[in-house]
Amino acid sequence: MNGPTAALLQPTRIEIDNGPSFQPGPQEDTLLRAALRAGLAFPYECSVGGCGACRFELLEGVVQTLWEGAPGLSERDRKRGKRLACQSRVQGDARIRVRLGGEAEQPAVAPQRVTATLSERRAISDDMVELRLALPCSPGFQAGQYALLYPPGAQGARAYSMSNLDDGSGEWHFIVRRTPGGRGSAVMCAELPVGAKVDVDGPYGHAWLRPSSRDVVCVAGGSGLGPMLSIARGVLAEPGARRVHFFLGLRHEGDLGAADQLLALTGERLSATVVLSSPASPSAWAGATGFVHAEVERQLAPDLGHYDHYMAGPPPMIEAMQDLLMARHEVPFGQIRFDRFV
Ligand SMILES: Cc1cc2nc3c(=O)[nH]c(=O)nc-3n(C[C@H](O)[C@H](O)[C@H](O)COP(=O)(O)OP(=O)(O)OC[C@H]3O[C@@H](n4cnc5c(N)ncnc54)[C@H](O)[C@@H]3O)c2cc1C
Ligand code: FES
Repeated sequence: MNGPTAALLQPTRIEIDNGPSFQPGPQEDTLLRAALRAGLAFPYECSVGGCGACRFELLEGVVQTLWEGAPGLSERDRKRGKRLACQSRVQGDARIRVRLGGEAEQPAVAPQRVTATLSERRAISDDMVELRLALPCSPGFQAGQYALLYPPGAQGARAYSMSNLDDGSGEWHFIVRRTPGGRGSAVMCAELPVGAKVDVDGPYGHAWLRPSSRDVVCVAGGSGLGPMLSIARGVLAEPGARRVHFFLGLRHEGDLGAADQLLALTGERLSATVVLSSPASPSAWAGATGFVHAEVERQLAPDLGHYDHYMAGPPPMIEAMQDLLMARHEVPFGQIRFDRFV
């Protein structure tokens, strides 16, 4: 075959300036996911337009921007022609400029997009649910990674982190908080009936559990509990004896049901501290109160450098923890891994 028909059947090719080329499959929704599926260490964090880590420059070709107003790009970025790979759909051959990461940043597990079934939903607090999705196959994931869910009726994807461990069955568990006014979380927490189908793409994320001899500190804010439970379960499943110090920040007594799964893990190798930021007044709560990062410092400083630190939750909590660990206690960057729920 030759001529125009052959040209139409040519696979699309994306060339990275001074780097490798790759061919996105015909079903790919974004440049980022195509690059990660090709095994490249394309820079990214959130995958949903919020952080700006996946910025690139388009040197030749055409890409479609999926979300014009994505907060991951500043006005200055836009004026300088920057784009977000997680919000760019490939339209044909293109040449781009981006600095790829090293071998350590290559995808830990190749992500796959599949249609899953919502097999179970259970309320675990006033505004959090545990969801169980049954995938038709078992792509696998590392403890601490997340998946992209495509809630029917919402624009774009939503990132939710797995709270269980991969056992090869293709059953992935999530803890999702209903965000006031949020579309995707409303669908996942209430509107999507059990038994319904939902598209899932994953796994993604760099904050997965690494082998080490150090004890582990897990810090979770709200639904950041999900990936931290997965990390803690991963440590407890290791043959070694390393321990977990788990800190869970919740708002008030109505959130406390979410702590049940954590409290069930406590024992010789795991200690749990629940911190309420806004307990009722007066309150029967006799535990810690205030900011979760302050409680971490109160219990573990000045030995913070002895641990591997994992954390997930709202950006202000992550920033407070980064300041505590990196600026004030000089914990090496390689011992700190986090997911910001942007
Ligand atoms: C790495 C990561 C892991 C996370 N893990 C969890 C978790 O385990 N549990 C949990 O409860 N939450 C988690 N979140 C937060 C979650 O992804 C949602 O941001 C949150 O549920 C609010 O979504 P919403 O649909 O209710 O709100 P909305 O306001 O409807 O949507 C906000 C989200 O949708 C994206 N978005 C909005 N508009 C568009 C558009 N037009 N096109 C494309 N995208 C759009 C935004 O980037 C943002 O992610 C995580 C976030 C990240 C980044
Ligand atoms: S990874 Fe694209 S904006 Fe965060």
